[in-house]
Amino acid sequence: MSKTRAGIVAALDVGSTKVCCFIARADSSGIRVTGIGHQMSKGVRSGTIVDMDAAEISIRNAVHAAEQMSGETIEKVMVGVSCGNPASRTVAVEVSIDGYEIGDDEVSRALRQGYQSAGASERDLLHMIPVGFTLDGARVSDPRGMYGDRLGASLHVITANGSAVRNLATCVERCHLEVEGFVVSPYASGLATLVPDELDLGATVVDMGGGTTSLAVFYGGEAIHIDIIPLGGGHVTSDIARGLSTPLAAAERIKTLYGNAMPLPSDNREFVDVPQIGETEHTQAHHVPKSVLVGIIQPRLEEIFELVRSRLEASGFDRFAGRRLVLTGGASQLPGAADVAARVLDKQIRLSRPTRLAAIAEATGGPAFATCAGLLTHMVTKPPAPQRRLPVSAKNGHGLAGRFGTWLRENF
Ligand SMILES: Nc1ncnc2c1ncn2[C@@H]1O[C@H](COP(=O)(O)OP(=O)(O)OP(=O)(O)O)[C@@H](O)[C@H]1O
Ligand SMILES: [Mg+2]
Repeated sequence: MSKTRAGIVAALDVGSTKVCCFIARADSSGIRVTGIGHQMSKGVRSGTIVDMDAAEISIRNAVHAAEQMSGETIEKVMVGVSCGNPASRTVAVEVSIDGYEIGDDEVSRALRQGYQSAGASERDLLHMIPVGFTLDGARVSDPRGMYGDRLGASLHVITANGSAVRNLATCVERCHLEVEGFVVSPYASGLATLVPDELDLGATVVDMGGGTTSLAVFYGGEAIHIDIIPLGGGHVTSDIARGLSTPLAAAERIKTLYGNAMPLPSDNREFVDVPQIGETEHTQAHHVPKSVLVGIIQPRLEEIFELVRSRLEASGFDRFAGRRLVLTGGASQLPGAADVAARVLDKQIRLSRPTRLAAIAEATGGPAFATCAGLLTHMVTKPPAPQRRLPVSAKNGHGLAGRFGTWLRENF
């Protein structure tokens, strides 16, 4: 039902460990990335801005690098959101049609009612995704052109805490960029990494980043549930630093070079050099068997995946996702992570990276860039959402009705 968009598009993912910006050219043949910039992120904790000035510098640098590479100057960006405790719920609405033929107006009426019943609250509305229609109680994929008495719509509503989102928007605006819209991070990661069959038949995507692990359940081509857990690879690193009394930078290096979440038979024979906190490089490093490292990493990953499992089970959407789970995000590169996920979640795990973008360099096409790549996919393939109470829109003077109207026009 949606149209695709062409031209220059830009996306910004303000992650807990890195900020990245992709600039791309979209046309009928697909999305071609022309510029990429990424920077270590400062002033961001578990996806939330905690230091405006530091975050602003990271964003500026990432955007500048992407602009230099692509040779384009961007004015607007689509921004990924994992702050403000994003939450999902499903809203069901029904409007009476009185036997007339259903057209755009009737569908708009149902969606507008959903928008109103999405609730006036202190939370910002990030997405309102139509996930299904019914006509006199029977499921239909597109009700237009049909006759009936009652048109029902099922809408997936995603909201987040308004102030956290506003801080993110302000930070982006301070870099002289307009926020074109927000997309909740796991939704974007799913759009970038799931193959069409997974999107349709049902699958869960889990994006394990530095400070958060976010998940989205897709079914029937759309996201039907999302959740974000404030734990990620950074917690594994600090466990290693604490457990081995080593500086954080050394713990990060040890994790990426020798870390494993599953034990190997050789672990008691192989040793890792661990510099100790406060000691100079001249003093002798400690030798620690790899089994000790596994003993630190494995329980943390188990804890994270157990949280994923319990949140999924509690949501009730687990059954739609079936047994397929796609694991992505920087921290999914830890050897053995997929095995721990398979055991704890009892699902078939596929490790994935962004698959839908052309001309993306190997080094920046990895799983850590799933969200940023998905933001581009969202911009090009999905209509702009009628987001509510965003500072940027208020500044533009576009009223809610106008934004909602555009969305309906483009969506239906
Ligand atoms: N080769 C690797 N092996 C193990 N872990 C890795 C590897 N490369 C990156 N990581 C880990 O991935 C994490 C960063 O992932 P990512 O870049 O997806 O996070 P982010 O998007 O910045 O954060 P978030 O999504 O949580 O806000 C870090 O904890 C880092 O240690
Ligand atoms: Mg991320």
